[in-house]
Amino acid sequence: MFARLSLWLFLCPFVSPGGSSEGHGAGERERMALSQAEVVKQSIQEVRRSLPVFPYREDLLLAIQQHQILIIEGETGSGKTTQIPQYLMESGYNEGGMKIGCTQPRRVAAMSVAARVAQEVGVKLGNEVGYSIRFEDCTSERTVLKYMTDGMLLREFLTEPDLASYSVVIIDEAHERTLHTDILFGLIKDIARFRPDLKVLVASATLDTERFSCFFDDAPVFRIPGRRFPVDIFYTKAPEADYLEACVVSVLQIHVTQPPGDCLVFLTGQEEIETCCELLQERCRRLGSKISELLVLPIYANLPSDMQAKIFSPTPPGSRKVVVATNIAETSLTIDGIIYVIDPGFCKQKSYNARTGMESLIVTPCSRASANQRAGRAGRVAAGKCFRLYTAWAFKHEMEETTVPEIQRTNLGNVVLLLKSLGINDLIHFDFMDPPPHETLVLALEQLYALGALNHLGELTKLGRRMAELPVDPMLSKMILASEQYKCSEQVLTIAAMLSVNNSIFYRPKDKVVHADNARQNFVVPGGDHMVLLNVYTQVMIMSGYSTQWCYENFIQFRSMKRARDVREQLEGLMDRIEVEVCSSEGDSVPIRKVAGYFYHTARLSKGGYKTVKHQQTVYVHPNSSLFEEQPRWLIYHELVFTTKEFMRQVCINANSSWLLEVAPHYYKNKELEDSSSKKMPRKQGKAKEELG
Ligand code: CDP
Ligand code: MG
Repeated sequence: MFARLSLWLFLCPFVSPGGSSEGHGAGERERMALSQAEVVKQSIQEVRRSLPVFPYREDLLLAIQQHQILIIEGETGSGKTTQIPQYLMESGYNEGGMKIGCTQPRRVAAMSVAARVAQEVGVKLGNEVGYSIRFEDCTSERTVLKYMTDGMLLREFLTEPDLASYSVVIIDEAHERTLHTDILFGLIKDIARFRPDLKVLVASATLDTERFSCFFDDAPVFRIPGRRFPVDIFYTKAPEADYLEACVVSVLQIHVTQPPGDCLVFLTGQEEIETCCELLQERCRRLGSKISELLVLPIYANLPSDMQAKIFSPTPPGSRKVVVATNIAETSLTIDGIIYVIDPGFCKQKSYNARTGMESLIVTPCSRASANQRAGRAGRVAAGKCFRLYTAWAFKHEMEETTVPEIQRTNLGNVVLLLKSLGINDLIHFDFMDPPPHETLVLALEQLYALGALNHLGELTKLGRRMAELPVDPMLSKMILASEQYKCSEQVLTIAAMLSVNNSIFYRPKDKVVHADNARQNFVVPGGDHMVLLNVYTQVMIMSGYSTQWCYENFIQFRSMKRARDVREQLEGLMDRIEVEVCSSEGDSVPIRKVAGYFYHTARLSKGGYKTVKHQQTVYVHPNSSLFEEQPRWLIYHELVFTTKEFMRQVCINANSSWLLEVAPHYYKNKELEDSSSKKMPRKQGKAKEELG
């Protein structure tokens, strides 16, 4: 191994183009690294006072008092998220039962930050300090400081259009420019005009703050001076063929050659992270006592929260911690003690084809802004080093300057429905910081029209209003609402919950692929993937008595099942509000498969694959599907995703075209379904387009 390590060192050395080192000697670096061990011993209050934002506490509170909208810019880790809401509480912004809300783009961040702050304040999480994420509300009557995902605050507009119970709203991590954050910008800017008492803080890492200021009518920018140590940046001489392997080798190389300090590796997703962790653990085992202890810790959105908490615990003396993370660790989470960063330069990015409705989640080079944020993570507690697993040339010429905002590369169905239910009809003139592409907006309107959520004038229908009450995609909410008529809402609620947990039901470890696939085969029932999901749920909850052991033996992820159960409970709880009677089809799959939500996503068998009825696009059944080999004539699919090919994911059999005419007479004409070459369009689609001018 060591021979191989040095061979790699020899073959593919990192080169430093100078980086940003400002001449800190090795001795000084060690001293700085040591001082961080002392930090651990400090009391919570001391730690709070040591954060970069602390000296600016009074100035900041004064600025907040003087301005309704304030942009706050500060290096990651300066205390924006954990401290500023506490300062607001300490100075009485929660008086009269008013709440302070702080949004986070990511669920993990909302949960972990709330836990940390509850600890700092000295209260039980969920009491004065709580969090709210989709399908999980950890707040109570007493909650005054509420961390939440940006999507949750957006939904609060439905029940409280002026956010009357809030005295302060903090839009945190604004630089991430998620879809929901972007929509919040427009809505909050609007309500701030008639709620002069509402304070709005827009917090961001050191990126783009001028643009935020400009958008919010030249709101002042409060800069928290950074405390950043120099970071040496190293590039590889040649591109890496296998960046995962390169990460593993680099971590070990750092571990055996570099002074103390923890290491942070950026990968693109759960699977990669798990593989990397396994490889590292295996190689450490083989090296045994030849090396000091290396603690390998993963972090990604779906990781159970007790595992997540581990990344924050201090590293025992004599060992080194390596955190393998998605870009959640870029700015949303700060892990103390990181001195080394390994950056392969990739991230998983969603993109959306508005012509076909195809989504893809593809590993792409990250932006230069991202790469710089990542490097910055190494210089928070001491001078650090960032190893970029790409060439300096690639950094300059192959990476984009900044990441395209999500609103420009995603499906807008959900958000359009929400805005329509808030009474915002003129979407073209909505105050977008960066407007979405025209075609994406048109497609969202078309889809909502087809589902019956909008009428031919583009106005919200009664059905649309009920659909908006459910915190799921329009397709799923339509399916749930339609299930009442077909007397199968029990089953459809389960299927919707299972679809919401997103392809993580079946566990397929690399070393047990055959076993896992056999286990999965045992759940197959006729009708298609929706029926399989229903079967899995029923077996886990009823037959097995919700047993972890049983799930483990059957290669089912218990955690996903738990989440599906929570989601189902919540959805069922909402049935009263939208006046849907919950009843059961007693195992008859026909009504379930007929349920209308998916008529919009229909494909027909044709030469070489399937053709979508709507866009005549060639698509394929995903190899994971229970219908992969069956090839029925008509299919309905849950989603189109491009991975290696244009795949339909989660498909079920639709007996024939007469079902389509039955469930969606407004959408399909007999003739259209007979003639395989004609293009299928909703009758009144022109009107939906007209509304956009
Ligand atoms: O928001 P910003 O990036 O400016 O900083 P922060 O998240 O408020 O973090 C301030 C400090 O709290 C950092 O030193 C973190 O290490 C610490 N923190 C923590 O120990 N545990 C958390 N779950 C979150 C933050
Ligand atoms: Mg933060």
